[in-house]
Amino acid sequence: MERVISSEQSGFDDSFEQSLRPQTLKQYIGQETVKDNLSIFIQAAKGRNESLDHVLLYGPPGLGKTTLATVIANEMDVNVKMTSGPAIERPGDLAAVVSSLEPGDVLFIDEIHRLNRSIEEVLYPAMEDFCLDIVVGKGPSAKSIRLDLPPFTLIGATTRAGSLSAPLRDRFGVPLRLEYYGEKPLKEIVTRSANLFDVVIDEGAAMEIAKRSRGTPRIANRLLRRVRDYAQVRGNGSITSEIANEALEMLQVDSHGLDHIDHKLLLGMIERFRGGPVGIDTIAASIGEESITIEDVYEPYLLQIGFLQRTPRGRIATQLAYDHFGFPAPETVN
Ligand code: ADE
Repeated sequence: MERVISSEQSGFDDSFEQSLRPQTLKQYIGQETVKDNLSIFIQAAKGRNESLDHVLLYGPPGLGKTTLATVIANEMDVNVKMTSGPAIERPGDLAAVVSSLEPGDVLFIDEIHRLNRSIEEVLYPAMEDFCLDIVVGKGPSAKSIRLDLPPFTLIGATTRAGSLSAPLRDRFGVPLRLEYYGEKPLKEIVTRSANLFDVVIDEGAAMEIAKRSRGTPRIANRLLRRVRDYAQVRGNGSITSEIANEALEMLQVDSHGLDHIDHKLLLGMIERFRGGPVGIDTIAASIGEESITIEDVYEPYLLQIGFLQRTPRGRIATQLAYDHFGFPAPETVN
């Protein structure tokens, strides 16, 4: 069962990820607009001795939403409690979490779009008036009691802001959209992580990993870890450009950072559906993935680099996708 709360998120890769996580806005690389906004709001809230307004972080997975929540709590000098939408099953679960908060603390709810509606209703007064209305008992003897809460900051994270109910979305004073990272900040992240690992990496190698990381720090750090393994076993431990290229080839990550699932998806569309338009459910069924995984994890980057287009009639593989695989595009693709 998922834990309702932890002081940190659990999960595979976590200790690795955590050891690399920046602790302050200054250490946090990239997302300049988000950082500029946050630093003003944090400074202002601290200047007034208030808790920071509620923050909604949205954007594709792996861009650092959890990291940013930790950074915000550090900058505000408060604790962070972490949980997720699916882990809060009953109003009592939420009550247990929020009533353990100290004044000013951050409550981080990952995948907040997966909170069920009955929990949302309890959350509204908690966000707005820092109080909880909970029903105790059943039947005629049931009564509602109101609990006062300390002021706190809710940080919600989601890959799909559009799936959030409007009343919940409207209660976040600071909605921030995280964007895919460019090659330069990703290269900086790779170099920083290599330094934290005490591994020597040359500029070309850091750039090569950055280029193949789909704009995503989590992927950059994962590739770095695999390339480091390769350097240790096949080389002398240092990550040179040559070692990085060999390792990335072995990992079957192509020049655009696409892996075998992206390949299956795009090649499936090209070879079986003449490049589309084809519906997401049809694509998903043909490659044995879930539609939601394709929509949340694979498709956003392919849309971003212009390999896919979404149209009302379905997805289309673009000329760029055909070029990437060395196929001539049919007349209908442009
Ligand atoms: N590690 C993962 N994401 C990072 C970021 N944005 N800045 C610095 N280190 C990171």
